[in-house]
Amino acid sequence: MITPVLMAGGSGTRLWPVSRKSFPKQFAPLIGEETLFQASARRLSGAFYGEPMVMTNADFRFIVAEQLEQIGISPEAIVIEPAGRNTAPAILAAALMVAAQDPDRLLLVAPSDHVIPDAEAFTRAVEQGIEPAKEGRIVTFGITPDRPETGYGYLELAGQGEGPQPLTRFVEKPEAARAAQMLEAGNFLWNAGIFLFSARTMIEAFRQHAPAFVEPVQAAIDGAKTDIGFLRLAAKPWDGLGDESIDYAVMEKADNLTVVRFSDRWSDLGGWDAIWRETLERSPSEDGVALTGHATAIDCHDVLLRSDSDDLEVVGIGLKDVMVVATSDAVLVADKDRAQDVKQAVTALRKKN
Ligand code: GDD
Ligand code: MG
Repeated sequence: MITPVLMAGGSGTRLWPVSRKSFPKQFAPLIGEETLFQASARRLSGAFYGEPMVMTNADFRFIVAEQLEQIGISPEAIVIEPAGRNTAPAILAAALMVAAQDPDRLLLVAPSDHVIPDAEAFTRAVEQGIEPAKEGRIVTFGITPDRPETGYGYLELAGQGEGPQPLTRFVEKPEAARAAQMLEAGNFLWNAGIFLFSARTMIEAFRQHAPAFVEPVQAAIDGAKTDIGFLRLAAKPWDGLGDESIDYAVMEKADNLTVVRFSDRWSDLGGWDAIWRETLERSPSEDGVALTGHATAIDCHDVLLRSDSDDLEVVGIGLKDVMVVATSDAVLVADKDRAQDVKQAVTALRKKN
């Protein structure tokens, strides 16, 4: 059995104004009817999966509980991190909690903000990773890159084969020049941000590469309190932890990584440009016009026009490379090449209010 661990603690500021501090992107129906979180939870149910563990924070706990209930999934635990300390401590906490029951149990850690339309293809990829994970490997999932993206991790392959293979190196979020080199070299895949391993293997990896986390995270678990169905980790040891992602804390240093290729469609909906691409993927248009909700385009090219409000009509005329996203209380109008800068809007508004 594999315990899915859904990471649902991020705040997704690059998808403002739909993604909000109290209601981030993974809980909004960004693409299609279900939310990304619900789609992720559903993808990791059935087959060889047990009940999921959800790692989140106090602000999102009721949204998590409600959205799981809506799709009929009952979690093994909804774990509340007292403060956001990035993915390293959250993943270690999940591994330590599972190890207390069975150190050989496998965990599949997955973000809750990805789009993977073909759940069955993904299940087949996970299946390929089970044996290596049982043998003490940390299994990553690799996507064929199509641009020199600097926001992802890169996996250097040792060989060419189709099956699971050992990784030579893990490079997290390279500089632009390095990303271009890796794309050119052809033997690198993007890290999908999904990891399969046994509880024992991950704890051992932390002991070796990031030992400072182990004792305080265990203390936060030992001092945890159950709070109407949620497991609240103890704040004192947790608050003192460093803020580090699993990619820097463990993956870049580990020498027991394996990669399984995932050749089907995968997207990290990290910004509105990705939503633009994904919307077009679902309803193709020759002009590159992506429309969602009450939106109309007249003579536009390569635009995203989107209204998330029933009371707001968005109309674009003669636009090129522009994104317009309207909600009931805010409108974003941005150059399509500036999608990554949307987080600056959030910073600017925070200062103002
Ligand atoms: N529970 C919890 N607590 N979840 C968190 C926290 C936290 O403190 N911080 C982030 N997360 C969640 C996010 O919501 C997201 O689902 C996931 O963990 C990954 O965090 P991101 O912040 O989105 O990471 P990234 O996209 O920059 O990079 C990672 O994913 C890429 C692929 O999407 C890395 O693993 C890259 O190597 C990878 O290519
Ligand atoms: Mg991400």
